[in-house]
Amino acid sequence: MSTLLEVSGVSKTFDGFKAINNLSFQIGAQELRAVIGPNGAGKTTFMDIVTGKTRPDEGRVIYGDKSVSLLKMSESAIAQAGIGRKFQRPTVFEDQSVFDNLMMALRNKRGPVAALFYRLTDADRARIETLAADIGLAAALPRKAGELSHGQKQWLEIGMLLAQEPKLLLVDEPAAGMTPAEREHTTDLLKEAAKTRAVVVVEHDMEFVRRLDCKVTVLHEGSVLAEGSLDHVTKNQDVIDVYLGR
Ligand SMILES: Nc1ncnc2c1ncn2[C@@H]1O[C@H](COP(=O)(O)OP(=O)(O)OP(=O)(O)O)[C@@H](O)[C@H]1O
Ligand SMILES: [Mg+2]
Repeated sequence: MSTLLEVSGVSKTFDGFKAINNLSFQIGAQELRAVIGPNGAGKTTFMDIVTGKTRPDEGRVIYGDKSVSLLKMSESAIAQAGIGRKFQRPTVFEDQSVFDNLMMALRNKRGPVAALFYRLTDADRARIETLAADIGLAAALPRKAGELSHGQKQWLEIGMLLAQEPKLLLVDEPAAGMTPAEREHTTDLLKEAAKTRAVVVVEHDMEFVRRLDCKVTVLHEGSVLAEGSLDHVTKNQDVIDVYLGR
């Protein structure tokens, strides 16, 4: 499997506290990866570093076929290069319809100048309908996003990210606040998305991680503590000790 993202020897200190400590790991071009670890392990900081929101003190973050360094790129250049990020709280346009939210995401993909002259084509309409079906919101296209359930808003935001066709999608705690049925749909959606791109999911809910059925990276104190299947890492004594607080 070809490598899409390579993090090596990355460290980041906040006020003397090492949030990320010599972190190294790789993500393949079409891979679903779960990142777990206790509170404060550095999971969100890792995403902040990959998306350019936080700059590490040392290390390398190399991305894509051309092996570019993300550390020299702005947040918007990183997004343009195909890295999409889903924050924990959904950030959809509540007063707009589901259709319009997806349309805006498609339009924005074309860049700020093209967006000014944007006209909706039949191909775009078809694409919006496909995206809506993929995220389970086909029947909700005319509804205002503000009327959706919390889970549906999360799916809409994932759909808006998918509209931009990211090569790497980073998703931080998608299951928080979702009903069991919504969680199940979310795992299906992320598994499907990972067939054509890399998807990295941070999640505390182990049932959710089990259903993702993918390789798991356990972070602890800013480094990789263990990696492998969920069964493999949950049998690892270091992981057991960390989760039991020993
Ligand atoms: N901008 C910042 N300034 C200062 N400290 C920070 C900053 N961002 C993160 N930290 C600290 O870095 C550590 C790692 O935080 P991070 O948010 O990455 O953990 P996490 O694994 O995402 O935890 P959680 O599971 O609770 O979301 C924490 O101790 C946090 O307080
Ligand atoms: Mg976090």
